Amino acid sequence: MLPPILSNLRIPVVASPMFIVSGPELVIAQCKAGIVGSFPALNAREKDGEPPLLDAWLTRIREELDRHNQQNPDRPAAPFAVNQIVHRSNARLERDIEICHRHKVPIWITSLGARVEVNEAAHDCGGISLHDVINATFARKALEKGADGLIAVAAGAGGHAGVQSPFALLQEIRAFFDGPLLLSGAIATGRAVLAAQAAGADLAYIGSPFIATTEAHAAPGYKQMIVDSSAEDVIYTPAFTGIPGNYLKPSIRAAGIDPDGLGDATPEAMDFGKDQRKVKAWSEIWGAGQGIGAVDAIQPVAGLVERLESEYLAARRELALA
Ligand SMILES: Cc1cc2nc3c(=O)[nH]c(=O)nc-3n(C[C@H](O)[C@H](O)[C@H](O)COP(=O)(O)O)c2cc1C
Repeated sequence: MLPPILSNLRIPVVASPMFIVSGPELVIAQCKAGIVGSFPALNAREKDGEPPLLDAWLTRIREELDRHNQQNPDRPAAPFAVNQIVHRSNARLERDIEICHRHKVPIWITSLGARVEVNEAAHDCGGISLHDVINATFARKALEKGADGLIAVAAGAGGHAGVQSPFALLQEIRAFFDGPLLLSGAIATGRAVLAAQAAGADLAYIGSPFIATTEAHAAPGYKQMIVDSSAEDVIYTPAFTGIPGNYLKPSIRAAGIDPDGLGDATPEAMDFGKDQRKVKAWSEIWGAGQGIGAVDAIQPVAGLVERLESEYLAARRELALA
């Protein structure tokens, strides 16, 4: 059974949080379009001495969605989610939890570590928590720590992807968990959303296609590269952050590095050319999942969600499910 907060979406899709890319404009557009919008709390970075930008972003998201709901009572906005990177390196975690708790964030997405106190904070303000995992062992641990739902991050996902087949991952998790389960990795069409459900997920978790939207906080060249690229242009490597992730080969070439010569390179071992310039993962070396072959235009979020919905309904009809 899905909790009510995830039950009334236009299509069963949660837009995933993306470092640098996801900001208030993207989240507001996603929620207005009827799917869950999300952003990493760490994207809200104020300058030293300034008040927390996360506070301002959450106020703006609430106000704009409230206004939308008053003006469109027949098609209210979907709820939003905030992603917390639960890792020793995140010095802001405690502060960001307090801000999210105060704003009563409805959906908390946690990655890179499951912690009881984050789930408790989510529950205490009336929210739910979803934790992302790349295998069944991490899935069990996340549930032990109190996560309400799981995001199965399969092979081919943008960012720090897993390596398991979505079929293997979903069937193993479904053997011990019947709560909210999302599938992440290369989902870019409405047909694939339905396939995720058929394979055992409740909802699809979609990131990379939203990079090529007008509301995304991404360089024009990055958006166009998503449109121009397909699965063969994506490479899975630990070279840039130490953790394996999926990146666009053309962006690696543009930084003067041969993506096919990376081997098992790690950030420490890499020689970034004569001037030893350190390339920056995410801002210079661009992340993307394998599903981007389905993206053929930069367009507003509303247009992308419209396409996903019509494909989803067509696939249901074709398979005689509706
Ligand atoms: C550029 C980029 C940045 C990402 N940053 C984050 C992040 O900050 N936190 C997180 O939990 N996941 C992050 N992800 C992973 C996504 O949440 C999600 O698992 C992934 O986008 C789904 O696969 P797809 O891109 O093939 O749709 C990122 C993905 C991309 C492409």
